[in-house]
Amino acid sequence: MTIGSGRATIAIGTGSPSAPQPKPARATAAPSPADLHAAMALAVDLRNALASVLLGSDDAVTAAVVAALSGSHLLIEDVPGVGKTVLARALATALGAGLARIQGHPDLLPSDVTGVSVFAQDTGSWEFRPGPVFAPVVLLDELNRTPPRTQSALLEAMEEGQVSVDGTSWPLPRPHLVVATQNPVGQLGTYPLVESQLDRFGLSTTIGYPDVEVEQRLVLHDGGRDALAALTPAGSPATWAAAIEATSAVTVTPAVAAYAVAVVRATRTAAAVRLGASPRAAIALIRCAQAHAVLDQRAYATPDDVQGVAVACLAHRLVVDGTATGRTVLDEVLAATPVPVL
Ligand SMILES: Nc1ncnc2c1ncn2[C@@H]1O[C@H](COP(=O)(O)OP(=O)(O)OP(=O)(O)O)[C@@H](O)[C@H]1O
Ligand SMILES: [Mg+2]
Repeated sequence: MTIGSGRATIAIGTGSPSAPQPKPARATAAPSPADLHAAMALAVDLRNALASVLLGSDDAVTAAVVAALSGSHLLIEDVPGVGKTVLARALATALGAGLARIQGHPDLLPSDVTGVSVFAQDTGSWEFRPGPVFAPVVLLDELNRTPPRTQSALLEAMEEGQVSVDGTSWPLPRPHLVVATQNPVGQLGTYPLVESQLDRFGLSTTIGYPDVEVEQRLVLHDGGRDALAALTPAGSPATWAAAIEATSAVTVTPAVAAYAVAVVRATRTAAAVRLGASPRAAIALIRCAQAHAVLDQRAYATPDDVQGVAVACLAHRLVVDGTATGRTVLDEVLAATPVPVL
C-alpha cells in the first residue's frame, strides 16, 4: 500500500462503511537472547546512521534511537534550519520504514491527516483512502501551526494506535512512530499544545546550533542532506518491531523501578512546578530507560539509564512558573533523589 499517494484505498465492503475491523494480534512469545542481541545491533546501527547525517548533536541522536526502540513518539522543538527534518528522514530511512510528511498549517483538516471514506462509483461501495498518518514513520512539521481539531485527531491516533473515520476503526501499522517538530520562536498564529497532548510524546529533544567545526563540515557537504541521500537501511519494520519487543523485556529491578517512580513523584512537589509528571510519564520513563540500556548493550536497566533519559522523557510534560524550565527542575530533582546502589 502506498501511503498518501491518493491512489491507495482500503475497500470497506458494499454499503457497510461501519463494519468493525479486526485488529492484528500482539505477538505473545517472549523475546529470546538472540532477539535482544539483534536489538542491540540495530540500536548501534541506528545511532551510527543518524550521527552520520545529523552532525554534532548526540542528545538528539540518542533521543531518536530511544524513541524508535521504546516505541515512543518524538517531539523535536527547535528553531528553523538546525536539522529537524533531516533527522526524522534519516530515522525513517535507517529503520527501512516508509515515511509520510505532513506540513502543519492553519487550514489542515483532520481528514488531511487521517484519511476519508469516499463512495466509488465504479464498484458502488465505500472505500477508505488512508491519510499520511498510516505511514510507519510520520513527520509532522510545525505541529503547533496545526489547528486544535487536527492536533487532536493526530494525537488520538498516536495514543490509540488506530484511526476512527465514519464509525470504523482502522488500525495503524505497528510499529508506528510520529516525529513532530515545533518552532519555539514566533508564537503568532500558533496553537500551543495542551499538557495532555504533550504527554502523548514519549520524548522531546532539541538539536541546537552546531559548534564551529561542525558547521564548517556542513557547508562542505559532510553530513546533512548529502549523507541522507547515501544512507541505506539498517533494519526493516519487522526487525524494528522485534527490537521494540525485545527492549520491553530488558530487566528492570524493583530498586530501579522505585528510583524512576521517585524521580517522577518528586516533579509533582518540586518548587515552581504547577503540573508534575503523570503515571503515563513514569511508564514512559521506564520504557525509555530500557531502550537506553539496549543502546548501551546491556540486558538490564540501571539508575544511569533513568538519568540518561529523564530530561528528554519528562521535561516537556512539566508546567513550571517563572524562570524555571522543565530541564532546571529535573536537574534539581535528579540531584536530590537518592540513587539506589545495585
Ligand atoms: N547539525 C546538523 N547536521 C546536519 N545537517 C544540518 C545540521 N544543521 C543544519 N543542517 C542542514 O541544514 C539544512 C536544513 O535542515 P532541515 O531542513 O532539517 O532543518 P529544520 O530544522 O527541519 O528546519 P525548518 O524548521 O525550517 O523545517 C539541511 O541541509 C541540513 O542538512
Ligand atoms: Mg523541517
